[in-house]
Amino acid sequence: QATERATRRMAADAAGIDEAARVLVAGGLVALPTETVYGLACDATNPRAVASLYAAKGRPTFNPLIAHVPDLAAARRVGRLTAAAEVLAARFWPGPLTLVVPAIEHATSELARAGLSSVAIRVPAHPVAQAVLAAAGRPIAAPSANRSGHVSPTRAEHVLADLDGRIDLVLDAGPSRVGVESTILDCTGDRPVLLRPGGLPREAITAALGFAPASPAPRAPGEPAAEVAPLAPGMLASHYAPALPVRLDAREVRPGEALLTFAGTRPPGTERALAILDLSPAGDLVEAAANLFDHLRRLDRSGAQAIAVIALPHEGLGEAIADRLSRAAAPR
Ligand code: TXA
Ligand code: MG
Repeated sequence: QATERATRRMAADAAGIDEAARVLVAGGLVALPTETVYGLACDATNPRAVASLYAAKGRPTFNPLIAHVPDLAAARRVGRLTAAAEVLAARFWPGPLTLVVPAIEHATSELARAGLSSVAIRVPAHPVAQAVLAAAGRPIAAPSANRSGHVSPTRAEHVLADLDGRIDLVLDAGPSRVGVESTILDCTGDRPVLLRPGGLPREAITAALGFAPASPAPRAPGEPAAEVAPLAPGMLASHYAPALPVRLDAREVRPGEALLTFAGTRPPGTERALAILDLSPAGDLVEAAANLFDHLRRLDRSGAQAIAVIALPHEGLGEAIADRLSRAAAPR
């Protein structure tokens, strides 16, 4: 059960960074800005802190957490980087890429890894995350700072909407630059497997590797969803859900709907939309990713009965956007 806590909000200045590191070392829970989304951080080596983090999010403990470290040297103390992982780390860290590699047993708590023999590692690029990681001096577990099943937070206000009273501190550094979570690549096998499209486009990974990453093996019919099979984690269908039903690839706006559009597109029926937000009037997918979760949260509160979303291009960050939207639209 989550314990009731007074949640403080501080600016992400030197005092805020010092306090965040102090709270983390003492076993507390701190929401931190990263360049992708806000993360809910705790000491990854402290099983009690990790247990309280799962409770605060309402997250099942079979869904493992990413270990955040400041640099490649620290990453090598947490996991055994395979050859492909070394290539990608050199090219893309710090940045929106998470690498799954064989774990070094006692470097992080088993609970943070959900008992797996692998560990997901990320070196975030945000200067505030970097400063807190350096000051804390230990691997930091940080899932997105939302209640389990909700859309990820890209602003301090989103964090508070979900977790006020359940965490110790939120550092406010304004909106997240990337806006979708990191790309996750499983590098434990011979060929890297793209587990989650995210802030680093697939095309960039293919170019760096010189070949395309593999896709996760599809589930057999009747096989349980990934949420109960810790191997393809985080991939549970409705993982990024707003409260309202989401209708994808909308070609018209129906009565009672709000509209999430792109590049100025106004489908038939737009005049009856209860609210309209454009992910990027200029048609820029990078801007669209940065706006996605904030716009979903705002349309959720628009008074509409459903959110109609027009089709977006799938290249570059469009793949991660399409992935999050299809999860938002999945039956729950
Ligand atoms: O951008 C991000 O990655 C953000 C920021 C805060 O860093 N974090 C984030 O964490 O999105 P979370 O917990 O919301 O998503 C992490 C995903 C989960 O789906 C989890 O199942 C997967 O990473 N994961 C963690 N460890 C894994 C492992 N050993 N093997 C496969 N997947 C793993
Ligand atoms: Mg998450």
